Amino acid sequence: MTIVLIGYMGSGKSRIGLELSKTLDYKFLDFDAYLEEKEQMPVKEIFKSKGELYFRKLEAKYLAEVLQLKDSIIALGGGTPCYGDNMQQIVNAVAVQSVYLKTSIPTLSARLFDERAKRPLIAHLDSNAALAEFIGKHLFERSSFYMQADHSIQTDGKSVEALVEELVARLI
Ligand code: S3P
Repeated sequence: MTIVLIGYMGSGKSRIGLELSKTLDYKFLDFDAYLEEKEQMPVKEIFKSKGELYFRKLEAKYLAEVLQLKDSIIALGGGTPCYGDNMQQIVNAVAVQSVYLKTSIPTLSARLFDERAKRPLIAHLDSNAALAEFIGKHLFERSSFYMQADHSIQTDGKSVEALVEELVARLI
């Protein structure tokens, strides 16, 4: 079985995914890192030089590849499920379970503020209030995709260890 973690930027997909993969002795794949390796270019640079639409096409192409992986934990990009028919591909994939890591707006904005330079969609936001407002609107648009996941887990106030335990209990 392969487990696909989805959720907004800063929801902990990579951190939780890595720990879950160790617990289950599965392979771990960070989708942004996979795409960067394939393209030999950082995501930030792809956005800058080729634009977001080009990046979204790459995501669709590489998503089809990674959904074939066996016994893996895949941490997708925050936007991956929200374009084209990507979420349908995830839901219909054979032997794949998807999990939405649901995190509140205050938690996301507190986590993302210092890291926003790495993320092209939020790099221009220069106050906590502006970031929180952006996340609120963006999350509202994206929720209908995230909610199609097989499982949904609230992450606020829980440690990585507690979340891994909860995921194992739900999925295995
Ligand atoms: C994006 C999220 C990022 C990365 C890109 C776009 C998004 O991944 O794919 O910057 O549209 O939400 P993370 O969720 O891993 O930060």
